[in-house]
Amino acid sequence: MEKWVDWLSSSPTFRPDLSYIANINNRNIGFIATDNDPALPDTHGFIIQVGVIPEWRRRGIASMLTTRCLEALHADGKYGVILHVNQNNPGAIGLYERLGFKTVRTRGAFEK
Ligand SMILES: CC(C)(COP(=O)(O)OP(=O)(O)OC[C@H]1O[C@@H](n2cnc3c(N)ncnc32)[C@H](O)[C@@H]1OP(=O)(O)O)[C@@H](O)C(=O)NCCC(=O)NCCS
Repeated sequence: MEKWVDWLSSSPTFRPDLSYIANINNRNIGFIATDNDPALPDTHGFIIQVGVIPEWRRRGIASMLTTRCLEALHADGKYGVILHVNQNNPGAIGLYERLGFKTVRTRGAFEK
């Protein structure tokens, strides 16, 4: 998890003020990272990644982090939030749909 956080927070457009880490008993167990996507209008925020360590999954940690982040984005003047998720990630899709996200676009990827 620390490697992911280091990598995401090294982006020049990373928004530390809109990103969170869940910490229990001095252990980091989950995070949500927000970035400024220059391709998006100022009215829209961009959640770049959410992650929870395996032993803490399915206990509402990602829901709590995402809800907190959405509140902060709203307070920052955003009324829309975009994120990307792989179609083969039903857990993440379930999380986002439960929080009210809708699919606006799907994109194909080809490998040889
Ligand atoms: C996706 C991820 C962040 C979910 O974290 P979490 O803390 O377990 O999520 P929550 O406990 O808040 O789950 C909320 C809801 O999302 C859905 N969900 C979460 N994980 C799921 C899974 N593995 N399978 C199906 N639905 C799942 C469920 O609807 C769940 O509610 P429920 O437990 O009451 O059924 C976590 O599995 C993870 O870190 N995965 C690896 C990284 C990743 O894929 N990140 C998303 C990239 S876009």
